[in-house]
Amino acid sequence: MRKYLLIATLLLSKQAPVSCVRLLELRVPAHAAEGGEAILGCQFDMERDILYSVKWYKDGREFYRYVPDSQHPISHFATPGIMVDVRRSSSTVVTLVHLTRESAGLYRCEVSGEAPLFATVHEEKYITIYLLPETKPILTGLKEKYNVGDRVRANCTSSGSRPEAQLKWLINNRLVGKNYIRGPWYRATMRDDVTETILELKFTVGSHHFNFDTMELKCQATIAPLYQQETVYQVLRKDILPMDSFTDIPELGEQPVPTFPDFGDTSKLPLEDETDAAGTELHLDKLLTLFLLLINF
Ligand SMILES: *[C@@H]1O[C@H](CO)[C@@H](O)[C@H](O)[C@H]1NC(C)=O
Repeated sequence: MRKYLLIATLLLSKQAPVSCVRLLELRVPAHAAEGGEAILGCQFDMERDILYSVKWYKDGREFYRYVPDSQHPISHFATPGIMVDVRRSSSTVVTLVHLTRESAGLYRCEVSGEAPLFATVHEEKYITIYLLPETKPILTGLKEKYNVGDRVRANCTSSGSRPEAQLKWLINNRLVGKNYIRGPWYRATMRDDVTETILELKFTVGSHHFNFDTMELKCQATIAPLYQQETVYQVLRKDILPMDSFTDIPELGEQPVPTFPDFGDTSKLPLEDETDAAGTELHLDKLLTLFLLLINF
């Protein structure tokens, strides 16, 4: 009987050369966080074959096996860094929980068809395990209020991570220039593979740093692609002079804002409220514009 099956398979395979199991997609995250989970997916198409087994390996060592034609389809084997959540695992998915540093490695999914061919396909991908900071970045050295002319010196510290976090300082949501920055410094922690990152912000406060009477200082910590956190600090201006805080806002009258005449009512041209020479020039400009517009009309 098996012989006939084999011949039949061979005959069929003549019609369609690729008639055995095909691996469609291996979904393994490139990065995962220590203490977290990883969901590994292995999609396959048996074509005309029947599934015999799905096996998962880490660094060449089998840790999970799914054999549908068995009393207990799922078996898993003790492997350093591997803890399988069986309730969330199947023929196409393996859920790993409580990831550790040892969970990093090369993961392989291997799918086999039934006897007699046991046609087997496999694919593999690396998982890198990151350790994410336990807290948001911490800001130190900042005062509640600053005057124009004061020196700001503050540190942003991202608690231990692997790899180290990338830090950025922003003032009013704009990234600061290199001359505002000192560092970063990398500090070893209790665990030799875990690093704390520090970036100093230092500059002399100018009135342009304030948005009215506040300045927003922000530090962002990033460990791409898994992590981004930020801490924001609102600083107040100590010596608020009511007139002074508006100097950064250009008043509309300061510059000759081009005004286009309203064709419905040409008498609305503002000819009566400006008397100085600059004003006259402005009006001549406007008259010329109006003239040109009328010619074009
Ligand atoms: C920021 O941290 C660095 C490194 O530890 C240190 O040298 C510097 O003095 C600190 N700056 C402030 C403002 O605390």
